[in-house]
Amino acid sequence: MRNIDEDTITQAVLASMSGCSNPRLHTIMTSLVQHLHAFARDVKLTEAEWFKAIQFLTDVGHITDDKRQEFVLLSDTLGLSMLVTTQNNRKPPSCTETTVLGPFYVEDAPEFNNGDDLSRGAPGALCFVRGNVRGVNGEAIAGASMDVWQSDEDGFYDVQKTTAALDELVHSARGRLRTQADGSFHFRSILAEAYPIPYDGPVGKMLDALGRHPWRPAHLHFWIEAPGYERLITHVFRDGDQYLDSDSVFGVRSSLIVEWVKHEAGIAPDGSAQNAPFYTLDYDFVLNPAGGAV
Ligand code: BEZ
Ligand code: FE
Repeated sequence: MRNIDEDTITQAVLASMSGCSNPRLHTIMTSLVQHLHAFARDVKLTEAEWFKAIQFLTDVGHITDDKRQEFVLLSDTLGLSMLVTTQNNRKPPSCTETTVLGPFYVEDAPEFNNGDDLSRGAPGALCFVRGNVRGVNGEAIAGASMDVWQSDEDGFYDVQKTTAALDELVHSARGRLRTQADGSFHFRSILAEAYPIPYDGPVGKMLDALGRHPWRPAHLHFWIEAPGYERLITHVFRDGDQYLDSDSVFGVRSSLIVEWVKHEAGIAPDGSAQNAPFYTLDYDFVLNPAGGAV
């Protein structure tokens, strides 16, 4: 393999991988090399630009740690996360649509009972959330596990507001509960607000250079699992938000936009007397049966 030139380099790289014993890895790397080389030829990539790209990826790596995942942000803002999510979660139209997971999900979130306050003091207007988890035939799904997480009124998730290690953090505005025997769930939390994705790093600089803003419309995250059904990772978005049509990570689906109803001070759904306005959000989720993707 000598005297490789710009016309033969792609074939030479592909040939070098012929001994790969993992067929899927071989398929992925073959396509990646072909597309990467085609891209460099297409834009006639200069050496300075190539170096800048290497520097950019180095910066993405340097700012990444166990709480800040800049590579995921990069994937999200380039639409790759939503593309992978969408093509791996095709399901009947009656099912709740999936959207991007995002970097703020935490395993082993605190457990709650229905009716509990998940906010644990996070700042924001009081919000009562309720709904049902059902199958495509309308059957109630009892005991489904439901992870919920959200930002507070300042636009921050609990994990962004502390330097504590994840296992030492007292979580707020997140938790896990289970649906009741009739498939219903209800909890107290706070009103979700729009927030910018972290933009003080290389991805923020990239957005800026591209004339893009970092904002996400207000939303509440859900991760729902039940035996015999496909896992559902999604959000519910707040109707009327100014960023619904320009979400920085391309995650909005019309079917996931809901009105978060404002109520004046008075008796809340849990029977408590509230002396400030509060909100209610009602949303039903429909899970696809396991193996039932179309
Ligand atoms: C989120 O919704 O939590 C999120 C998603 C993608 C990037 C940043 C945040
Ligand atoms: Fe979010």
